[in-house]
Amino acid sequence: MLGSLLLLAPLAGAAVIGSRADTQQCPGYKASNVQENDRSLTADLTLAGKPCNTYGTDLHNLKLLIYDAEERVYQVPEKVTPRVDSGDGSSKDSALKFEYEEEPFSFTVKRDDEVLFDSSAENLIFQSQYLKLRTWLPENPYLYGLGEHTDPLRLSTTNYTRTFWNRDAYGTSANSNLYGTHPVYYDHRGESGTHGVFLLNSNGMDVFIDKTADGKQYLEYNALGGIFDFYFFTGSNPKEASIEYSKIVGLPAMQSYWTFGTGLGAVWPGVTAYPDWFHPDIQDYWNSEFSTFFNAETGVDIDGLWIDMNEASNFCPDPCTDPERYSSENNLPPAPPPVRSSSPRPLPGFPADFQPSSASRSQKRIVKAKVGLEGRDLLNPPYKIRNEAGSLSNKTINTGIVHAGEGYAEYDTHNLYGTSESI
Ligand SMILES: *[C@@H]1O[C@H](CO)[C@@H](O)[C@H](O)[C@H]1NC(C)=O
Ligand SMILES: *[C@@H]1O[C@H](CO)[C@@H](O)[C@H](O)[C@H]1NC(C)=O
Repeated sequence: MLGSLLLLAPLAGAAVIGSRADTQQCPGYKASNVQENDRSLTADLTLAGKPCNTYGTDLHNLKLLIYDAEERVYQVPEKVTPRVDSGDGSSKDSALKFEYEEEPFSFTVKRDDEVLFDSSAENLIFQSQYLKLRTWLPENPYLYGLGEHTDPLRLSTTNYTRTFWNRDAYGTSANSNLYGTHPVYYDHRGESGTHGVFLLNSNGMDVFIDKTADGKQYLEYNALGGIFDFYFFTGSNPKEASIEYSKIVGLPAMQSYWTFGTGLGAVWPGVTAYPDWFHPDIQDYWNSEFSTFFNAETGVDIDGLWIDMNEASNFCPDPCTDPERYSSENNLPPAPPPVRSSSPRPLPGFPADFQPSSASRSQKRIVKAKVGLEGRDLLNPPYKIRNEAGSLSNKTINTGIVHAGEGYAEYDTHNLYGTSESI
C-alpha cells in the first residue's frame, strides 16, 4: 500500500537570518482550510508564531499536499525521478491512515492502530535553506537503510548521523557520506510487519537518530532545501516493503557479469569538465562522444564500458579558482593517460562559458516553477551538513553553478548527478 504526503512552501519570508541556531524554539505551523477529499487532503499551513530564522528565513505558508501556491521551492525534477501516482482506490481502503493535529501542525501515519510515523516529536521547520522534521520511533527500533554507508546493517540509534552528499570517498570510510544517496529507511517491527519511509528530496541533508534526554527515540531530517515529499509503504516483511519501494523509484538495470571486469587503472583528474545532464542538447552530445570515441574503425574498439566518477569529483580543494594552475602545480594527472590529452578539450555545441578554460560562469536568475528560491547562499548555507569533505563544493562541482535548461542549481541537484547520467 502506498500513501503519499506533500508539504510544500510558497512564500519566502522577508526577515533577517538570525545567528541563533536553537531550532527547539521554532514556532511550528498551524493548519487551516483543511479539505478532505476521497484520496487527498489539502490544508494551508501558516507559521504559528514569531519566525526563528535559524538557518535561513522561515517560510510563512505551507500547503499540505498537492502544490505550493507559487511553486518556487526546488523540487526533484520529474525527468530525473518520475512520480508514481498513489494508485486507485479511496484512502479509506488504504492500509495506512493519515491523521493530523492542527496546531502546532503535526501528523501521524498509522497501520491499523500502530503508529509508524509521528511528526509531533518537534515543531516542523521550513526555511529557505533548512528543513527539519522529527518523528518518534519505538524503543530500540530495528532500522535499516539510509544508504549508501559502510556502517552496520541495523542502524545505530544513539547519536547517529547519516549524511547525504555524494562524494568520491576513497576507502569508503565508516560513518561518512559516500558515493550515493538513498533517503529511505525501513523500520522492521517483527510480527507486525515492516514499513519504509522515503523522503524524495535531493538536497544535502543529515538524518539524525537519537534519544531525547528522557530516553524517547526519534529520527529527524535536517535538509538544506527542497520540500518534504514523503512516501510511506508497508509490507508484512522486509522483502514486501522493498518491493513497494521499487514501485516508487524503479529497479536497477541488470548488467551482464562480464561487464564488471576489473578496475581501469589510474585516470586521475587534472582539469575536469563534467557534462551538464540538464542541458537540452546533452543527449546528442553524449551520443556523439560515444560514437566518435568508440568507433570500431577509427577509435577505441570496446564491448562494454564502465562509467566511473559519477559522483562528479575533482581533486581541487574549494575554493577552486584556478583548476589549471592547481593541476599543473600538483602534477595532476601524474602521467598523461594513453587515449586522452591532459589539456581540456573544447566541448562541441556548448557556449563559451561552459568550455573547460572558462573561469566565469553565468548565473541565471532562478524564477521558474519548482526550480529553487532566489537569494540563497549556494556555497556556504548557514546549516552545515556533516560532509566529510568539508564545504559543499570541496573537490566536486561548484554548488553555485546554475545548470543549462530550466536553471537548476548544482546546490539542489548535486546528489542527482549519477542518476541523471544513467537515464
Ligand atoms: C555525538 O557524536 C558526535 C560525532 O561523532 C560527537 O562529536 C559527540 O561528542 C557525540 N555526542 C555524545 C553526547 O555522545
Ligand atoms: C577540502 O578537503 C581537504 C581534504 O581533502 C581539506 O583539507 C580541506 O580543508 C577541505 N576544504 C574545505 C574548504 O572544506
